[in-house]
Amino acid sequence: MLNSKIVGLGHYVPERVVTNEELSGMMDTNNEWIIERTGIEQRRFIDPAKDTVANMAAKATHMALERANLEVSDIDFIVFATITPDYFFPGSGVLLQRELGLESIGALDIRNACSGFIYALSTADAFIKTGMYKTILVIGAEIQSTALDLTTRGRNTAVIFGDGAGAAILQASDHKGVLSTHLHSDGRFAEELYVKDPGSSRPHAERQPEQILDTSSFKVHMNGSMVFKHAVVRFSEVIMEALEKNNLTKDDIDLLIPHQANLRISQFIQKKFELADDKVYNNIMRYGNTTAGSIPIAMSEAFGEGKIKPNDLICLAAFGSGFTWASALIRWS
Ligand code: UT7
Repeated sequence: MLNSKIVGLGHYVPERVVTNEELSGMMDTNNEWIIERTGIEQRRFIDPAKDTVANMAAKATHMALERANLEVSDIDFIVFATITPDYFFPGSGVLLQRELGLESIGALDIRNACSGFIYALSTADAFIKTGMYKTILVIGAEIQSTALDLTTRGRNTAVIFGDGAGAAILQASDHKGVLSTHLHSDGRFAEELYVKDPGSSRPHAERQPEQILDTSSFKVHMNGSMVFKHAVVRFSEVIMEALEKNNLTKDDIDLLIPHQANLRISQFIQKKFELADDKVYNNIMRYGNTTAGSIPIAMSEAFGEGKIKPNDLICLAAFGSGFTWASALIRWS
């Protein structure tokens, strides 16, 4: 059986910094509330004239390729995780394929929200292990800002989300890189964090946009406290599952990179696993929650800061809409 390893990481975030103060001018919120409840100090919002999900992903890809010393032409498959594709269909995978100038390689889209990057990594890992592809580009990218309700009505989600893209290049390897991935879901909670429209669940008359009078169904609906309560339980379970599967313990973790949903969730997990501060990487303070983008952006930044070293055991974990949750253990080489 072949193995897969990450040979390059890259990220891109839009230039525009949006502070808590700026949001406080648009809705009834304030810096203290946002920092206390979420840890977020600022996030990035796109410039709609310049940034798209696909071209942010392309910028992240070029950074990852450069770090890996590879060319665009080395990529033989794309797995693209996003819940905010440029178009309702087709997905952003094909737009990235076009943007990169790759002629006809396959592109697969993954819609697992905050767990999307780990689902994408797991899919790419499985493709490599079967020998089907050798070099797979794995993306997590989102544009949340243009869908946020930036009024007091939407404040429980508007202050959380941000935009950005991360990329990982996964290659076949003799050494074990991705040790295991663990994917879960519980659809009973689908409506606790979702965007209803433009969905196909409506009858014909209601699916005509001009018939939809209340457009709040196009915005993120989130039962924040319910998501929080499930997140802390599932994060812990899925990290334990990964460690047990590999006969490892929490003491073997060199760096935990949790999905950046809320600093309080990361801190809860850190405490539960008794991890020192330098063993957990958080950047939610700067970027907010970039959904599928959050883990690859964080991984790429951690790598750039020298926090991921050869032979390190890296643990990724995520929880979000679906509900879905997932983890991955990676032996860096
Ligand atoms: O990545 C996807 C997964 N998502 C998550 O993991 C999110 C998980 N959940 C959370 O992070 C938290 O639930 C939130 C940060 C979203 C909310 O924090 P909370 O401590 O659960 O607050 P809450 O929703 O219980 O609201 C508490 C109060 C409410 O006022 P009342 O009813 O107590 O008077 C809200 O109306 O805070 C109010 N509130 C706000 N106040 C100022 C809600 N949003 C805001 C805001 N600014 N932005």
